[in-house]
This record gives sequence, C-alpha cells and structure tokens, in this order.
Amino acid sequence: MSDHRLRHRLTLALAAAALVLVGGLIGIAAKATNNETKTVTSATPTVSTAPVDPSVAAGAHDFVQFACAQCHGLQGRGGVSPAVPALTGVAQQLTAAELRSIINHGLGESSNPTQPYMPVWGAVMSSTQVDDLVAYLRAGLPAVPTAEPTPLPQNQGTAVEGGALYIRYGCVNCHGINGLGGVPNPQSPDKTIPPLSGADFRKQFNTDEKIIAVIRSGSVIGKAPIVSMPHWGGIIPQAQLQALVAYLKTLK
Ligand code: HEC
Ligand code: HEC
Repeated sequence: MSDHRLRHRLTLALAAAALVLVGGLIGIAAKATNNETKTVTSATPTVSTAPVDPSVAAGAHDFVQFACAQCHGLQGRGGVSPAVPALTGVAQQLTAAELRSIINHGLGESSNPTQPYMPVWGAVMSSTQVDDLVAYLRAGLPAVPTAEPTPLPQNQGTAVEGGALYIRYGCVNCHGINGLGGVPNPQSPDKTIPPLSGADFRKQFNTDEKIIAVIRSGSVIGKAPIVSMPHWGGIIPQAQLQALVAYLKTLK
C-alpha cells in the first residue's frame, strides 16, 4: 500500500473514532436530560413516554371521548354486549374509506329498541376527528397513555356519579355541557340536538321512568345524516341509568 493510501486510511479511521466519541458524548448528555425529566414525572413511572403518532393518539382520545369504548370495549376488545362487535380485526377487514363511512353514517338503526346500533356521528364530529379515529383503528387500537374513560367517584351520591357517567358515555358531545343542548343536527326537524334541561324538557320528561325509557331505547328520528338518540339498552346498567337521571335533575 502506498504511503499516500495508508495516510488516507488512517485519517478515515481517526475520523470514525472521533464520530463514535462525539456520538457517545451526545448519548451521555441525552441520558442526563432524560434522567432529569424522569425525576420530574416520577409520580407516574408506569406510563410510557414513547412518542405516539399524533393522529393515532388523537384517535385514541376520541375513541374514549365519544364513548366508542363503552360499546366496543376498551381498545375495541369487545365483551360489553353480544350485539356490539369487537373492532380489533377491522384494519384487516375494512378500508379507511369504509371505516370513515361507517363512523359518519352508522350502519342503520336497529328496529329493536332495546338493541344497541352503531350511531350516526357525521353531524357531531369534525372530519379531522373521523380521520384520527380511522388512523387509530387502522393502527390496531394501541394503548395510549391517559386515553382512559372518566373515573367514577365512589360513595359520593348518585348525582355525582351521574355527572361522571354523562361524560363517560359521551352524552355531553351531543347534549352539551350542563345539558344545555345546541349541538347542530341540521337535517332533523328541530335542526339541533335537544337540551336535557329547561322547562320544556322537564314538562315532557316529568318522571324518572320516562327519562330512563328514552335513554335505554333511544329515539330514531331519521336515517343518516340525521343524528338519532342511540339505544343504550344492554350497555348502561340500571343503577347507572338511575344515577344519570339523578344528575339530569340537578340541571337548570
Ligand atoms: C351505542 C353503542 C355504540 C357506540 C357508542 C359506538 N358503536 Fe360502533 N357499533 C355498534 C354496533 C351495535 C355495531 C354493529 C352494527 C351492525 O352490524 O349493524 C357497530 C359497528 C361498528 C363498526 C363496524 C364493525 C364491523 O366489524 O363491521 C365500526 C368500525 C364501529 N362500530 C366504530 C365505532 C366508533 C369509531 C365509535 C365511536 C365514534 C363507535 N363505533 C361507537 C355500537 C356502537
Ligand atoms: C350521537 C348523539 C347523542 C348521544 C351520544 C346521546 N344522545 Fe340523547 N338524544 C340525541 C338526539 C338526536 C335526541 C332527540 C331524539 C328525538 O327528538 O326523538 C336525544 C334525546 C335524548 C333524550 C330525550 C330528550 C328529548 O327532548 O327528546 C334524553 C333524556 C337523552 N337524549 C339523554 C341522553 C343521555 C343520558 C345520553 C348519554 C348516555 C345521551 N342522550 C347520548 C342524541 C344523542
């Protein structure tokens, strides 16, 4: 080997060694910063801090917020009601376009008022939220930290429990905060999803039984794109229906 080539090789080897050294230093520095962040967040050491695709993460939160998890099970694993399928295989069975269409338009209402059906979400959700849900379903419904249903307060009375259930079952997405209503439902006769508060509501739904009946059996006011009241029969247990009523009766 000529002198010139040998020198060239040595330079390359030195450069490579320097790179390894710098890389190591960066690694040590990164570890030090990591350790710092770890001490700050050490209250929840079991929660993974690995980055999640933002769209998949948003979809996981939407899946909880819109109560998909209450009918289809946590992470779509099923087991809630024999009428509701698990969603763990949908990435293989349905295209993104098919999933988007099912979420926007539902799959048709069940004629049996005690049987849950896939609700129509098109008027209630933005297209970004639908896209995120599709990304989450197509990613196989992975576990995403803090995408968890609202916890239920214990031993604090039925109205407090009912307030948490109102969030957990996603009633708030359609009937608004404090049951004030106002969520647009453009193709329906009223053009809006009704409030669950106010004089008109109280006059029409003047007994616990009437309120429980409509929550359990829903009310179909037309085909998609009209949003109807979902059937929660077989999904929400009787004691929780009573807690929801207790909460609704605290509203203005
Ligand atoms: C009130 C209960 C209920 C809620 C809430 C609900 N679903 Fe469904 N969903 C159903 C039922 C029941 C079916 C089966 C309908 C059928 O086959 O006619 C279904 C079917 C589906 C399907 C088709 C599955 C397949 O294998 O064909 C998808 C996808 C789906 N739901 C996604 C969602 C998403 C996403 C949400 C939340 C935005 C959601 N669902 C909320 C009850 C529900
Ligand atoms: C996907 C949207 C949606 C969700 C989620 C939803 N509702 Fe409804 N709800 C409606 C619509 C639309 C109506 C109006 C039906 C009609 O006019 O016949 C309605 C009607 C009602 C009524 C009768 C009020 C009236 O004036 O007709 C009650 C009570 C009610 N919902 C309670 C609930 C509770 C409790 C939850 C949560 C467990 C819930 N809803 C979740 C859409 C929804």
